[in-house]
Amino acid sequence: MVEILPSILSADMTKLGEQIALVQAGGARTLHVDVMDGRFVPNITIGQPVVQSLNAATGLLLDVHLMIEDPDRFIPEFIANGADLVSVHQEAVRHLDRTLNLIRSEGAKAGVAVNPGTAVETLSAVLEIVDFVLVMSVNPGFGGQKLIPHCLKKVAQVAQLRRQRELDFAIEIDGGIKQENVAEAVRAGAEMIVAGSSVFHSENPREALQELRRRAEEATLARV
Ligand code: DX5
Ligand code: ZN
Repeated sequence: MVEILPSILSADMTKLGEQIALVQAGGARTLHVDVMDGRFVPNITIGQPVVQSLNAATGLLLDVHLMIEDPDRFIPEFIANGADLVSVHQEAVRHLDRTLNLIRSEGAKAGVAVNPGTAVETLSAVLEIVDFVLVMSVNPGFGGQKLIPHCLKKVAQVAQLRRQRELDFAIEIDGGIKQENVAEAVRAGAEMIVAGSSVFHSENPREALQELRRRAEEATLARV
């Protein structure tokens, strides 16, 4: 089943609770939380206290996207603070098998993320131990960027690998998803669709989310 995950990076942080209530009213089940350290990516964003507050204040699942160096140092604390899904970047981790197993052993779903410039083949050895693969469709660091078209082909490649190897991990796409391209992302094979600015910078985040979901679901039907 296809799902739209609002990315709170684009929300108005002075009214985060209200903004989350809007997407919850629009049917969101999971929030995408972008954690950046100013080292792996050229930006700094959200950390443990925000994850903790989100967990205490909402019943929504938290999908914590770690764009940080040496994530092993922080993974147990993020999960203790309420992260339900945690993704780490292939490019940031030296011992990917160990890190993904750490996420699982701490009780969260484990995802591996790849930048636009990283080949999906680099994930081949860990596909059996991931719950989801996150294909970045922009270079990570900022919301509001334009989707890089070749990344849709990478989603299709991951979907093909999943079929060939008879695996059942989910495929997430993140970056530049809008009303105009959400169907394409779903047709390529993604079922977890992150949307930041196209939800929170729209006039009506609740309706924007619902419309994205409508288009995504329509594309799923066309896929079968
Ligand atoms: C970018 C982040 C994204 C970002 C997406 O590095 O990983 O999750 O919030 O924002 P939009 O949907 O505006 O591209
Ligand atoms: Zn993200």
